[in-house]
Amino acid sequence: MANSLFRRKTIDSILKDAEKGDTEVHPHALTRVLTVRDLTFFGIAAIIGAGSFSSLGEAVFRGGPGVVLLFVITGIACAFTALCYSEFASRIPVAGSAYTYAYASFGELFAWIIGWALIMEYSIGNIYVAFSWSDYFTSFLDKVNIHIPDYLTCSYAEAHKAVLNNSPNEELINAWNSAPMLGSLKIILDLPAIVINLLITYLVYRGIKESRNFSNVMVILKLAIVALVILVGGSLLFSHGLTFNWTPANDEGVKSFMPNGFGGVMSAVAGVFFAYIGFDAVSVLAEESRNPQRDLPRGMIYSLVICTVVYILLALVLTGTVHYQKFEGVGDPLAFIFESQNLNVGWMQLLVSICAVIAMTSVLLVFQMGQPRIWMSMSRDGLLPPVFQKIHHKFKTPSFATIVTGLVVGVPILFTEKTFVLDFTSIATLFAFALVCGGVLLIPRKEKQAGKFQIPYVNGQFVYPLIIAVSLFLFAVLSKNYFTNLFDFDYSANVDYTAGKASFMDLATPNISIIIFWLICITLAIATIIKKYSLIPLMGVTTCLYLLTGMTKSNWAWFLGWLAVGLILYALYGYNKSKLAIKK
Ligand code: ALA
Repeated sequence: MANSLFRRKTIDSILKDAEKGDTEVHPHALTRVLTVRDLTFFGIAAIIGAGSFSSLGEAVFRGGPGVVLLFVITGIACAFTALCYSEFASRIPVAGSAYTYAYASFGELFAWIIGWALIMEYSIGNIYVAFSWSDYFTSFLDKVNIHIPDYLTCSYAEAHKAVLNNSPNEELINAWNSAPMLGSLKIILDLPAIVINLLITYLVYRGIKESRNFSNVMVILKLAIVALVILVGGSLLFSHGLTFNWTPANDEGVKSFMPNGFGGVMSAVAGVFFAYIGFDAVSVLAEESRNPQRDLPRGMIYSLVICTVVYILLALVLTGTVHYQKFEGVGDPLAFIFESQNLNVGWMQLLVSICAVIAMTSVLLVFQMGQPRIWMSMSRDGLLPPVFQKIHHKFKTPSFATIVTGLVVGVPILFTEKTFVLDFTSIATLFAFALVCGGVLLIPRKEKQAGKFQIPYVNGQFVYPLIIAVSLFLFAVLSKNYFTNLFDFDYSANVDYTAGKASFMDLATPNISIIIFWLICITLAIATIIKKYSLIPLMGVTTCLYLLTGMTKSNWAWFLGWLAVGLILYALYGYNKSKLAIKK
């Protein structure tokens, strides 16, 4: 039993399967049209979206200007991960992304777990983006004097929660009070979010070429307007002499780049990480790119580098132009800095709203394309029913899987809310990233081949244990009570990082996930001394796990619940229907 749970596919067999497609069910016929420029554009299309246009506000409120540091740390973690994705994408250029990579390294059970976690990234993440899209779209319509009733612009769950909590948000309260009734049920739904999901599903169903053209135009537009925000905001920041906002005073009057301490910065991790999600989506286009082994790694790395620079500049502009505490509850931070009480540039507000709608449309498009392709790979392996690999005879797209994706995004829009899906998406994606990096440690090293990407091998035997030892030492020195706080579980309940009370040196949260993090690092260091693991994937695992320590207990509880449901489904279907089970 245990052996068959970890049954693995060899890289050769994965490549052969993808080449012949599943001829027993439907001929495989995705078209290879994408170049390195298209892939880079796809990466940017997926990365810059709701994270920067929406969740950045809450992140700045939590972390203060120090959130810039989190963008750097997260950028580094994503860079290590992108290199690991690139290594896999170059060796296994098929559509399943991290799912397929796990099949070749950890075996079937982990592959299923990753495939299951990726539903969070691709489908559930799109729910957050659709909600944010709707927020900006309705505020844009308001600016041009078109008003959609409040009960058609928010989710039922959001309005209900606002009423229960006596929220000051007038729109949500009004949505609840003015909603028409159907029997005893209030009709409250986010109509723009539902409509955009329908349109995107249709576009993806119609085919990759149309989607690509649409996506490229949107990326150029959004980069141009983000650059404008940086230039206009940046120049006003200096000309108005606002740089003092980079070292604001917290509630206790202490001036600091990190007014809520490092803990405050880390508490923003879900929002910041969400902003980076997307570079990995490039890898699902392996079977539609002309030269995947050369171009996929380049597309991923180029898009990540461009977006990291953009994010750092954006975070600097935001935190410099407006005091960080004013970002509480702000869902449109890029437009907010240009409002009359801040920089007061009316035309920028309108432009940013248009740009946000464009940026988020491209995110929706890329993720909605990615999900069916992952399911297609899982179906080829027998872990999902054969209908998931059905390719449309005319449009050459995975038609059934595309429609199911539309439903998985669309139906929860009716009853979930933003914060919940944001946290859920980030934790699952980080988990998948950590496993991908870990997977690279397990695949056999290979000779470099011309024209194919390969992670340079740096022997981690002594360097990695040294990095862990020095980090432990630095944490202990920078925060005197680091280790005592770590095991003081009463202390954890009392730290409120958004209240401006945590001290600058407050690096430790007594958090079970930090203890587990250090234990894993020490285990990895010992394993590396013995096995001489490669340093880059080791740093990928370590940085992703570190970011995971910023997640709350309730995030973990939901995520583990989700994994449990996945494991039950695997036991009921995939375990028996797997191609590897049938071959035996
Ligand atoms: N990174 C993507 C966004 O921010 C998911 O919308």
